[in-house]
Amino acid sequence: MTHSLRGLSFNPILTDTDYMAVHQFKKKVVVDYRDPSGQYLPVSIESISTGATDDFDLFTKAGEQFFIVKPKGNKLNLEMLTKLKKTNPYLYIKAEDRDTYYARFDNQLSRMFRDTRLSPNEKAAVLTDWTVEIIDQLFKDPSHPESVQQAKSATEHFVRFISERNQAFLELVELRDHDHYTYSHSVGVASYSIALAIAQGYKDEDLVNVGLAGLLHDLGKSMIDPKIINKDGPLNSDEWSQMKKHPLYGAEILSRHKDLDPLIALAAEGHHENLSGTGYPRGVEAAKLDPLISIISMADAYSALTTKRSYSTPRDAVTALKLMKESIPKKFGADMFKSFVVMFLNESNRKKVA
Ligand SMILES: [Fe+2]
Ligand SMILES: [Fe+2]
Repeated sequence: MTHSLRGLSFNPILTDTDYMAVHQFKKKVVVDYRDPSGQYLPVSIESISTGATDDFDLFTKAGEQFFIVKPKGNKLNLEMLTKLKKTNPYLYIKAEDRDTYYARFDNQLSRMFRDTRLSPNEKAAVLTDWTVEIIDQLFKDPSHPESVQQAKSATEHFVRFISERNQAFLELVELRDHDHYTYSHSVGVASYSIALAIAQGYKDEDLVNVGLAGLLHDLGKSMIDPKIINKDGPLNSDEWSQMKKHPLYGAEILSRHKDLDPLIALAAEGHHENLSGTGYPRGVEAAKLDPLISIISMADAYSALTTKRSYSTPRDAVTALKLMKESIPKKFGADMFKSFVVMFLNESNRKKVA
């Protein structure tokens, strides 16, 4: 079965005034991490690894002051990194080192895909470190065109990595050394979506769009008050009605990036819809939407069940799949669910199921 994604279009729902209102709010929320002078740039500490000989100085911030923690050419040792992780969500680089910083990842990725000495696990680690940084930049400033370009380039590597062999997608999601939910979840949804789309017959460029749709499906959460996003427990009805707007916000942001396929905005808008039409934000039956949206929804549900959150322990794969099976046919189609389950089986078991 081959699908094509072309010919889709997206109709904006929020007015410009609504959009600008949430955007202003967003700017206020992220301002804490910024250096008002523009001299230093925050980078997620989750993206910093100990191994690389990094060509830039790294700083930490205390009050309004910046202190160097690693000079150019030096490596950060594990003990220091662990200590820093406990107290700093961000380290800082000089703004003038931005290109060097991103080039490091680009170079590492291009080199490592040719390097046969590196294990898939090592490759997966570099790829997810890089993606973590991109997701972080995107959530801080979702309208930044360069971050979207970087997300695209990371997704191309995801597709290449996952297409290499069966179950390679598991190497990307099983690393789990990033404890921030949004990072693990976005990487998880991108990886499961690409693998499921391959199983459904999607090809090449479409796979990159599928992966991007997975990586960016929750971008609208960047517009929701972080107190709601990070709440340690169930949401009250007010908070829940705020939270339910994230698909619309995400679609709106993504539709404004004109170089992205409109499908990516449509997937962000539709990923909480389901087959019985009881989802949100529109309550439309998922069968009336592009099948790709069901791929993202299935990947999203599985990742939400199996990823660690502050207030709940993650389900193991079998429990998660059993819970999802109970939602057939209300939420998920039986055929797509079957291909999803098959992805997790090893070669010999797969022959028995197929
Ligand atoms: Fe979502
Ligand atoms: Fe999600």
